[in-house]
Amino acid sequence: MEILATHIGAIPMIDEGTFPLTIRFDGASVDEFIAWYQSNTDWLDNNLLKSGAILVQGVDIDSVDKFEHITGSLGSKFRDYLDGSYPRRNLKGHVYISTEYDASYNITMHNELSYSAKWPSRLIFGCVIPPGTGGETPLVDSRSIIDVMPPEILEEFERKQLRYVRNLHSGQGMGPSWKDTFGTDEKEVVEQHCRSIDIEYEWKEDGGLRLINRRPATRIHPVTGEKVWFNQADQYHPTHFPEEVYETLMLIADGVEEDLPLFVSFGDGSKIPESTIHEIIRVIDTVTVVRPWLKGDFVIVENMLVAHGRKAYTGDRQIVVSMVE
Ligand SMILES: [Fe+2]
Repeated sequence: MEILATHIGAIPMIDEGTFPLTIRFDGASVDEFIAWYQSNTDWLDNNLLKSGAILVQGVDIDSVDKFEHITGSLGSKFRDYLDGSYPRRNLKGHVYISTEYDASYNITMHNELSYSAKWPSRLIFGCVIPPGTGGETPLVDSRSIIDVMPPEILEEFERKQLRYVRNLHSGQGMGPSWKDTFGTDEKEVVEQHCRSIDIEYEWKEDGGLRLINRRPATRIHPVTGEKVWFNQADQYHPTHFPEEVYETLMLIADGVEEDLPLFVSFGDGSKIPESTIHEIIRVIDTVTVVRPWLKGDFVIVENMLVAHGRKAYTGDRQIVVSMVE
């Protein structure tokens, strides 16, 4: 435990021995937190690179407005959720509801937009309304995943890389439409966006759009030089769906896996065995940390260093997110 000298009225307890590193205030206002942050920005930035994620507790955040105010002080440039693969609704300014994906299913661990050529540097998740049960945002250090991944899986993934496929409908169907995904109904705008971030695209006869991203399975962090597991193979692979969902999806896709809303193969087009995906999920789970949300908690995640997921939940839940460019 350590106490950092800071602004009067807002002296947090800091626990560096935990993951995520935890900064705990004894009831600070939003402005008190911002004053503390402004005196400790370098310290926080350095520790974010070490820990990968920092949890802040005890700040009076009970509304989207306050979350927007506090995150506005933490990141100067925010990005929107264009090109995202899950439903996510904009609430206000740079604040989004974290996901509206069916509450009864878990979302597997992933680094945001790792299938894309451009991803956010940081995510800030905040708890405005805690879930009734479950609904945690598990975190895992992507450097530790490299340490625990079986060497033969790591080697094959790095050598073959990944080919992510998304099939977006034109208005009705499973998952998001291409108009929602790109925030436009003009095909030329979508095409230009795809070209600018190296996505192959193909318009389909039914008005839908197929997108293909070929990406590496690991990356080197540009500042720390560390290797991170940085892919969404398990999230894109149909094996992660509960069986009844998989069967329904396969009916809609006429039995062709490549026509599912999300699909992934190795970069050369060869199949990733189901057993490999199960092993990846199992191994990642051994180093994942799950903690319950408390009202007002927020967590700053270095998106290349730490992956996140979502546990199934019941009750109301308002976990909001902002993404820093
Ligand atoms: Fe996410």
